[in-house]
Amino acid sequence: MLPVTPAEITVTKTSLPPLAEYVAYLEKIWSSHHLTNNGPLLRELEARLRDRLGARHVWFVSNGTIALQLALHAANVTGEVLTTPFSYVATTGAVLWQNATPVFVDIDRATLTIDPRKLAAALTPRTSAILATHVYGFPCAVDALQAFAREHRLKLIYDAAHTFGCELDGRSLASYGDVSCLSFHATKVFHTVEGGAVVINGDDVLAERVKLTRAFGQFGDDHRCVGINGKNSELHAAMGLCNLPRVAGIIAQRQEQFQRYHELLADSFLELPAPPAESQGFRHNYAYCPVILPSEATLRAVMTRLEAGGIRARRYFFPSLNRLAYLKSTSCCPVAEDIATRILCLPMSADVTAAVQYRIADLLLDSLAAPGRVVHL
Ligand SMILES: Cc1ncc(COP(=O)(O)O)c(C=O)c1O
Repeated sequence: MLPVTPAEITVTKTSLPPLAEYVAYLEKIWSSHHLTNNGPLLRELEARLRDRLGARHVWFVSNGTIALQLALHAANVTGEVLTTPFSYVATTGAVLWQNATPVFVDIDRATLTIDPRKLAAALTPRTSAILATHVYGFPCAVDALQAFAREHRLKLIYDAAHTFGCELDGRSLASYGDVSCLSFHATKVFHTVEGGAVVINGDDVLAERVKLTRAFGQFGDDHRCVGINGKNSELHAAMGLCNLPRVAGIIAQRQEQFQRYHELLADSFLELPAPPAESQGFRHNYAYCPVILPSEATLRAVMTRLEAGGIRARRYFFPSLNRLAYLKSTSCCPVAEDIATRILCLPMSADVTAAVQYRIADLLLDSLAAPGRVVHL
């Protein structure tokens, strides 16, 4: 039996580079005294990200939420926004922050992303944009969304917070749409402690607007538009430069963990959401391992059981965002509401060894009383 103490294994644990590598960057910062405001490390990180993501414009910003707010603001999003109810609260929050109205379009049960077949019924003359999330890095139906957006002259904005390292048809998933917004929060496969990016692969005018808005709307002495402070610092850029070369290793480790969970839980009553296969042109980053329980009651029982065994899984995402208490009016999204009550993400990090995964699978299967389970303890 593994010596696991209460809450020893959490759903994510930040991966850190060797301290000496970070200190080498700190020494550069100390000697230049350039801490923020478009410094050399930030520009180096942006150049490397442009390369890596294959995108024309990548603006490094203070977090993924600000990336969404900047994107919606710079794209002049007003009125109503067709958006997914199955995402983190920052997605809906950014729409509300822009004084626009989120109109929730239910998700496709197979992909967990916004269902393009349901967009038309939610469209009104006030609709100005689609804000869709590649949840868990699972790609949205990008072609269908693009066609719909083009036909109805809507901006297509992706919450790509989970997508670093994902590729679709040979392109970075973060390079799709009019704008994509990434999060580089400490829990992500690529992180800068706090941070994010706005990625724009075409529209140079929109890209300039984002850049300007990120820094108070100020260009020299010229105040060109209303802006915000969405900049990020040299210390955060330095963390990004240390972490970028490590992403491939982190993804490889998560792939192994993801596949092991799927093997261990294959014969259970659990649903195991998975992205499209590589043969379908998709490369995943294995950032999360979601599992869907048969009912909310089972989910609660499983969480209690895991917690008692020192394992903290996470209800990610809950609640379905159309049910946020502070929304004035909202629509029904039966699929998202059902999934949100039954979905959990299992721990994925360097601490999650094969032995820990066996233990997690056993605790899970034990509380489900699944037939034919194999006990590894
Ligand atoms: C889907 C999604 N969008 C946006 C965000 C917000 O990113 P940040 O925490 O960097 O502000 C998150 C954070 O986890 C997220 O999961």
